[in-house]
Amino acid sequence: MKSVVDILDLSKEELASLMATAMDIAAHPEKYSDKCKGKKLASLFFEPSTRTRLSFEAAMMELGGNVIGFAEERSSSVAKGESIADTVKIISLYADIIAMRTPKEGSALVAAMNSDIPVINAGDGGHSHPTQTLADLLTIYKEKGRLDNLTVGFCGDLKYGRTVHSLIAALSRYTAVKAVLISPDELRIPNYVKYEILEKNGVEYVETHSLEEAIPSLDVLYMTRIQRERFSDPTEYDRLKDTYILNPEKLINARRDMIILHPLPRVNEISVKIDSDPRACYFKQALNGKHMRMALILMLLDEAAKNREREDLLAGKKLVYNKYRCIGQRCITATEQELEHIFKEIDPERGIYRCIYCEKKAVIAK
Ligand code: NCD
Repeated sequence: MKSVVDILDLSKEELASLMATAMDIAAHPEKYSDKCKGKKLASLFFEPSTRTRLSFEAAMMELGGNVIGFAEERSSSVAKGESIADTVKIISLYADIIAMRTPKEGSALVAAMNSDIPVINAGDGGHSHPTQTLADLLTIYKEKGRLDNLTVGFCGDLKYGRTVHSLIAALSRYTAVKAVLISPDELRIPNYVKYEILEKNGVEYVETHSLEEAIPSLDVLYMTRIQRERFSDPTEYDRLKDTYILNPEKLINARRDMIILHPLPRVNEISVKIDSDPRACYFKQALNGKHMRMALILMLLDEAAKNREREDLLAGKKLVYNKYRCIGQRCITATEQELEHIFKEIDPERGIYRCIYCEKKAVIAK
């Protein structure tokens, strides 16, 4: 069964095919209006969402399918203590495909491991958000005409910003992409993204604090919100929340053809004065997200019909069981009962293993 837990679950060829389908859907929506007749999307949102949830639901409706689900944890049995594993086992009996968002890192993977129907990760804590990346890639492709040969600035909360982690992973497979990582020290990109994605793929990158210095070199500026809900200390959030505010003055030195993306919601980080600038693409990006989600639902339901084996999910990953523990506080292993702690081998000689759910470094079990 093919699920999309991570953006790297989709090959470059699959991404190209999703983009082509999404553009065809935008041009000829009537061709697709009953492709999912009789099918149900389970929309399981344990965390707030406007665009992702409603665009998934609109996507399924525009394909002629139906939607069941909930928009907050309190209206699900998880609030009574039910595990994610049990939740998806039950939902597999009622629906054909799941879109799921939770605050726990790795929960989409747990869902996919326990589901008999495809699972789409609609955001797992501060970890990853592959369908936002689909929206981002289509927007870059439509506006710039390419995904190779781009200098992309990521600005804001690079530590907890899951959309950044997934977009960097996706772009690292294209040629001559450069990443400019703009953040305060406290919110720098996680090590696994730096070492196992950027460096491993030979992506050129720089880290800086200064948006002003970085902006003239950029083809794409990806602004992000400081993720208040992921901070354990509210005073730290208050100190960092207005670090970057993009306003017309800051754009003076940007290229005329630079595009500005933002996964939204924005808080303060882009002045509304920018909205009328032709470089602002964040509202188009949200519409592209709906078309990409339509294309993804079609692709996964088609694959599911071919009845792939669930084991595919872990294929190609070298796994180590039990000897290690994950100590990530937001990791799904912290709350899911008897969930096996599983690690992938990153560098066995140096003893580096990472939790397959949240990508934190492993600690030897006591
Ligand atoms: C993002 C998310 O949920 O990670 N929003 C979205 O899905 N468009 C970004 C954010 O919340 O800052």
